[in-house]
Amino acid sequence: MYVCLCQGVTDGQIRDAIFEGCCSYRDVRETLGVASQCGKCACLAKQVVRETLNEV
Ligand code: FES
Repeated sequence: MYVCLCQGVTDGQIRDAIFEGCCSYRDVRETLGVASQCGKCACLAKQVVRETLNEV
């Protein structure tokens, strides 16, 4: 599912970024560019990051 429509970023990409070494929402944002435009996805993106970090 798409988390960030502006940048075309999916939850899968966020999860992959974390498995590849991102360890915070800020890292994910810098790597994938989520929430860098309208910002509407920030809340959902943070949630996906939080959930994924809880799994690893
Ligand atoms: Fe992510 Fe707009 S949906 S910046």
